[in-house]
Amino acid sequence: MMNVNFDKIIDRRNTGSLKVDKYKDRDIISMWVADMDFAAPTPVIDAIRDRLEHGILGYSVPTDELNDIVVKRMANLYGWDIDPDWIVWLPSLVVGINVVTHLLARDDEMITFVPAYPPFLISPHIADTKLHTVELAVKDGRYTFDIEAFKNAITDRTRIFILCNPYNPVGRVFDEKELEAITKICLERDILICSDEIHCELILSDKTHIPTATLSQRHLENTITLMSPAKTFNLPGMNTGLAIIADPELRKQYTRKLFICAPPCINALGLVACKAAYSQCEQYKGELVEYLKENAKITYDFVNTQIPHLKMKLPEATYLAWIDVRDLAVDDAEKFFEDAGVGLQGSKGFGVPGFVRLNFGCPRKVLLEALQRMKRAVDSL
Ligand SMILES: Cc1ncc(COP(=O)(O)O)c(C=O)c1O
Repeated sequence: MMNVNFDKIIDRRNTGSLKVDKYKDRDIISMWVADMDFAAPTPVIDAIRDRLEHGILGYSVPTDELNDIVVKRMANLYGWDIDPDWIVWLPSLVVGINVVTHLLARDDEMITFVPAYPPFLISPHIADTKLHTVELAVKDGRYTFDIEAFKNAITDRTRIFILCNPYNPVGRVFDEKELEAITKICLERDILICSDEIHCELILSDKTHIPTATLSQRHLENTITLMSPAKTFNLPGMNTGLAIIADPELRKQYTRKLFICAPPCINALGLVACKAAYSQCEQYKGELVEYLKENAKITYDFVNTQIPHLKMKLPEATYLAWIDVRDLAVDDAEKFFEDAGVGLQGSKGFGVPGFVRLNFGCPRKVLLEALQRMKRAVDSL
């Protein structure tokens, strides 16, 4: 029985929502940035309310209890035995990515795949760091790493590989063989791996998420893992996440750089939200994943069978659909669909042309209306 009503349409206007305010006073269904139109789990709301009733909102730090919750979660979900000392709390994973970039010395270089989550591209750019990008390949109808192209793009100065697993925007959950193949090269070439696993609990297929750091002892020592409850429990505005770094010297360097970007305290309500999300919200997660699976399937079927010229692959994870619009005879697909009343994210910021990203983390009625609007617009071309 469903206890959480994901069908409920909640008016997000006048809440300072990045997602909704982009289209203020325009009849555009906003489906761009990765935040969902669902209320956070009740235990999270209750925990925040209780914390507020205390009254004092002083500088806050993670408690041992919270660290233990993370330790247990890693053990339960992935059989990953982490030490609480390995956890570095962050005010957001974007900050966590920026800190990774700042670990580099002058003239060091980074590498990542495209399409890429835009901060993977922006962070090196603003730090004046050379970034090599390699396009994902499509093999047997699914996106995967292009191992040869990756090898060829590495130079003697390449020091960091930023990986997204599960992969925003294409929705892949990489299997052990794929992860082994790509990270083996990093270990051979002494390249640090930053594995952004923020989407790891929203698995919509029968795949299992494998944290990159768990592949071997060498992976553990050579990987910075980024995680957060923000996507799974729809808490992006709570701005709280974490890095897991086993190697003490690497962790020390990371923490020192972090101090330049962020104070040593974390948002008081974010910590409370994280604790409740990670310890009391499994039912919410289970129901959400079922709802998202259905939304993914609806989007996939509709886009591939009802809208001419558009194609997409079924996402294995995330609430994001990566839609191929290369056969659509329009110059700017993002603008075209905005004019049709649907706010999608164009692929330029992801480092490739010819795609749009649709966020299906919304009530089904809203999703269906958006898909109909897209169909009408394409049919009328
Ligand atoms: C891969 C990835 N990393 C990081 C983030 C953002 O994390 P945060 O909100 O904690 O900065 C997102 C949000 O969409 C994401 O998709």
